Amino acid sequence: MKLAEHLEVLYSREAVQKRVAEIAAQIQSDHQGKELVLVGVLKGAFMFVADLARHIDLPLSIDFVGLSSYGEATESSGVVKITSDLTKPIEGKHVVIVEDIIDTGLTMRYLLDNLATRRPASVKICTLLQKPSRSRTRIPIDYLGFTVPDLFVVGYGLDAGERYRNLPFIGVLKPEKS
Ligand code: IMP
Ligand code: MG
Repeated sequence: MKLAEHLEVLYSREAVQKRVAEIAAQIQSDHQGKELVLVGVLKGAFMFVADLARHIDLPLSIDFVGLSSYGEATESSGVVKITSDLTKPIEGKHVVIVEDIIDTGLTMRYLLDNLATRRPASVKICTLLQKPSRSRTRIPIDYLGFTVPDLFVVGYGLDAGERYRNLPFIGVLKPEKS
């Protein structure tokens, strides 16, 4: 894929794919004989869920939840709205939430509290990226891809104003020179 000049690669396609396969292996070994549901958080996690699921050799189901934060575009306010709910109950199921990035953690905090009311057998958190420097609430992450510095990252599902989600790698946007 042609690189825009103001994009810098942070994790290459190969690095991302290697890490995704490793995480899938962990999820697989932790969920032998259990009814597993992968819950992807839209839109950012669509690519991660798709790649992850292909590496998990277990019977599983996949569902999605759409969340949006009522804050500014690039910062979570903690006030979250479900824009699209799960299609099936998760009662008694072993849920792995699949998220693109945990930044302040406020979105995940809301989702955890919400899913807990539906009586799943267990809930684990899988996130491709985490920005620990921005954390505002402690989120217990079970499966983590990479820890990133406080930079705005795009690609592999993550967007900036809906762009760059289709990049197969994770990059950092640099300020455009004019
Ligand atoms: P949190 O509630 O602050 O943890 O925000 C999480 C959500 O904000 C993520 O699911 C992303 O959609 C978005 N987000 C946070 N940081 C970035 C970033 O660096 N690039 C793209 N989206 C981000
Ligand atoms: Mg997201």
